[in-house]
Amino acid sequence: YQVAKNVLDRVSIWNGDITRISIDAIVNAANSRLAGGGGVDGAIHNAAGRSELQAQCRQYNGCAVGDAIITSGCRMTHIKKIIHTVGPQVYGGNITDEIRENLVACYRTSIDIAIENGIKSIAFCCISTGVYGYPNDDAAKTVTNFLTEFLEKDTSLERIVLVTFLETDNELYNKYFAKYAAS
Ligand code: APR
Repeated sequence: YQVAKNVLDRVSIWNGDITRISIDAIVNAANSRLAGGGGVDGAIHNAAGRSELQAQCRQYNGCAVGDAIITSGCRMTHIKKIIHTVGPQVYGGNITDEIRENLVACYRTSIDIAIENGIKSIAFCCISTGVYGYPNDDAAKTVTNFLTEFLEKDTSLERIVLVTFLETDNELYNKYFAKYAAS
């Protein structure tokens, strides 16, 4: 019970714009070319300053699905780092084990890079659930399962904020974290 309580103390579910959060690092839902895009990627590139952020992204040779890279926050002085991860694409709502593992890999790799960089607090957007078509319910459940298991074992991160943009994602996270709390 003690451990479970401790896990929930470190997780927040927050509805809003991820570019507005003051935190060590935010996680972007990028594409494999790291070229910038729409959705949360577009919002982050705009807030960071497109040319500055793209110059940093170009130092990497793209990013594979499930992998992540790190840049500074550029003009976003209220954060230290942006971690860019590339989520799996889901066509027609059909999730395979490989796709689900790739979604988990986005969160795990982003956290690994965060910890390597001394980051203590990190905000995630709902990776893959927009343009990339990952079903919201499965994503919320998969992410909740991964994070609770991870945080039970690892205490390096002080705060994880799950940033929802859609009310439905907020409700789903609250549902799955409540289930975890009751388990
Ligand atoms: N803050 C937080 N979340 C946001 C914001 C924002 N400012 N804008 C959008 N979102 C939410 C969406 O509502 C969705 O829940 O981010 C989630 C992820 O959606 P997408 O941005 O479409 O990301 P994804 O599904 O991973 O698709 C990635 O889209 O923009 C392109 O370059 C990107 O090709 C890549 C693809």
